[in-house]
Amino acid sequence: MQEAIRIIKDEHRVLNSVLFSLRAISREALRTGAKPDFLWLRALLSYVDQFPERLHHAKEELYLFRVLERRSSALGGTLARLRREHAANAGHSVRMRSALTHWERGDPRAGALFANVASDFARFNWRHMRLEEREVLPAAQATFTEADWREINLAFAANNDPLTKSRTRSECEAALRRFVPAHI
Ligand SMILES: [Fe+2]
Repeated sequence: MQEAIRIIKDEHRVLNSVLFSLRAISREALRTGAKPDFLWLRALLSYVDQFPERLHHAKEELYLFRVLERRSSALGGTLARLRREHAANAGHSVRMRSALTHWERGDPRAGALFANVASDFARFNWRHMRLEEREVLPAAQATFTEADWREINLAFAANNDPLTKSRTRSECEAALRRFVPAHI
């Protein structure tokens, strides 16, 4: 398997886990009435902004979608949809950050809003990534040249996503700790 395919799938698995964690933590807090650990929720959201949003989606568009569009128009509609979905992801992220701020300040409706957006974000992304893995990655495997692979392999290897490299719970905690806001 090409290095870029392995990294993209690893990054998808981590993003899925992070989004379902945001959903689970917020739902549990609403169910019990206890405050969630806001700093860890912020750390998870910062991770999503700094890695999946800033690096993963941008590199998919630049090194995967753009090359496939040059080769054939067969996936044109799918790639246009995936680009629109990347833009919508950023909107989910902004809404969650705003809801979290209000929740932390004590707004009683903000927790439910956060949990709802987290649920939508998790489901939306799961469908998005499944489409990429079922249609886009196989198309790349069928059409990419050696030069295309060299370029995309280097680009994704440079991501160095700390969560994809974590194998144990303590490694995950250590990796996430760097996203905890600095004032604690
Ligand atoms: Fe994507």
